[in-house]
Amino acid sequence: MDQYVIKGGNPLVGEVEIGGAKNAALAILAAAIMTDETVIVENLPNVRDTNVLLQAMEEIGARVERLDYHTVKINSSGIGSYSVDYEYIKRIRASYYLLGAMLGKYKRAEVPLPGGCNIGSRPIDQHLKGFKALGADVKIEYGFIVAEAEHLQGSHIYLDVVSVGATINIMMAAAMAEGNTVLENAAKEPHVVDVANFLNSMGANIKGAGTDVIRIKGVERLHATEYSIIPDQIEAGTFMFAAAVTKGDVTVKNVIPKHLEATTSKLLEIGCEIEELDDAVRVVCAKGLKPTNVKTLPYPGFPTDMQPQITVALALAKGTSIVTESIFENRFKYVDELARMGASIKVEGNTAIIDGVGKYTGAQISSPDLRAGAALVLAGLAADGITLVEDVHFIERGYERFEEKLKSLGAMIEKVRGEKEIQKFRLKVG
Ligand code: EPZ
Repeated sequence: MDQYVIKGGNPLVGEVEIGGAKNAALAILAAAIMTDETVIVENLPNVRDTNVLLQAMEEIGARVERLDYHTVKINSSGIGSYSVDYEYIKRIRASYYLLGAMLGKYKRAEVPLPGGCNIGSRPIDQHLKGFKALGADVKIEYGFIVAEAEHLQGSHIYLDVVSVGATINIMMAAAMAEGNTVLENAAKEPHVVDVANFLNSMGANIKGAGTDVIRIKGVERLHATEYSIIPDQIEAGTFMFAAAVTKGDVTVKNVIPKHLEATTSKLLEIGCEIEELDDAVRVVCAKGLKPTNVKTLPYPGFPTDMQPQITVALALAKGTSIVTESIFENRFKYVDELARMGASIKVEGNTAIIDGVGKYTGAQISSPDLRAGAALVLAGLAADGITLVEDVHFIERGYERFEEKLKSLGAMIEKVRGEKEIQKFRLKVG
C-alpha cells in the first residue's frame, strides 16, 4: 500500500490553489441524475470519493464523460436501474445521496444501508424520516433501504438533529414532490447552499438554504445546467493549519474567505497573522503557537472536519488546550497515533485535554480516517526527523494531489511504496 514519507522541519511558504468542495460535489453529482438533459459540472475535485460516485452512477445507466481533469458531463436519460450496488456504499457512504435524487425523480430507489465508519455510527434515521414525511414507503430489507412512492407530497419536516446529509437528501426528494415543503432545523453549511443553488440552476424552487428553514416548492421536471462547485473550505483550512504548525507563510487561493471564518478566528487566537483578500487568505505563523479551547459545531461554528487539524496544532502550543467534539462520538482515534510522535493528550469522552509539548518527533503512524490522516501529515511536517504515514488511501478520498501541493510549498514529502523507495527518500533528504 502507498505511504507518505516526510522529513519535517521546513516552514511551508508560498501559494496553493484550493480545489472544489468534495462534500458539495458528492451531492451535486447525485442531484445531476434528476434531469434527463445534459449537466456539466465544473471545478469538480478529482478525488477517490467523487470518482467512485461517478462509477456508481454509470453502473445504474448514467452516461458520464470527463471533459477535463475537473469537468464532467453527465446525461442520465439512459438510467434503467434504481438500485445502487453495495460495493459503492461500502466505499463511500455519500452514495446515499442517490436515494434522495432517485426518489425525487423516479419515485423509487434502492440503496444499501451505509455502515458506520471510523468516526462514529452515523445513522441515517433523519434522512428516512424526511422521505416518509414526503409520502414515501421506506423499508429496510436484506441490507437495502427501499424507498418508493406513488407520488411525493410536500410536507413540514423538523429535523431532530442538524444533519448535512439529511438536509441535502430531503431537499433533493422534495424538489420534485408535489406542493410545498418546509424543512426546519436544517444544516447551514456552504455545501448545502451549493446544492440548493445547483438544483435551482436546473429549475428547482428552493429558498432559504444557508438558514435553518429551507422552503421548497416542488416542480414537475428539472432541466440541463452548467455549474461550478464552490471551493473546499476543509482543504483550505487544512493548508492554513499546515502553515501554523510549520511556522510558515501560506496563501490559500481560490477560496471564499467567508466560509473560513471559524478557522481563521482560531488561527488568530493561537497567534497567527491573517490577511484576507477577495478569493484568497494568507496565513503567517512566525512565532510559537498559543493554547486555546475549541468546540466543534454545525456551520458557522468550528467545523468537525477541522478538529484533528487544530488538535495537532494545539498539541504543539505551550500550555493547556481543550478540544470538544460535539458532532461525532468517536473522532479522537488519531490521538493514539499522535502520542507516538510525542503529543500529550488525554481523551475523556468527547473532550481532549491537551498539554502542549514543544515539538513532535517522527514516527511510523497510520491514518485512521480522511481528516485525521491529513492532520497526521501536518504533524509529520512539523516533526523532527522522518515520519511514515500509512493508509494514505484514506487521505486521497478527499485531498487531490495532497503531497504535490505540499511539496510546492517546500515540504519534504513523497508518496512511496516499499522500503526501497523510503531509503531513496532518506538518501535524498539526508
Ligand atoms: C457530512 O457528513 C460530511 N460528509 C462530513 O464530512 C462532515 O463531518 C459532516 O457532514 C458534518 O459536517 C459529506 O458531506 C459526504 P451529518 P454527514 O448528517 O452528512 C447525526 C469528511 O471528512 N445524524 O451532518 O453524514 C450524525 O450521527 C466527512 O469530509 C443522525 O443522528 O453528517 C452526527 O452525529 C466526515 N441521524 C450528526 O448528526 C441522521 O439521520 C451530524 O451528521 C443523520 C445524522
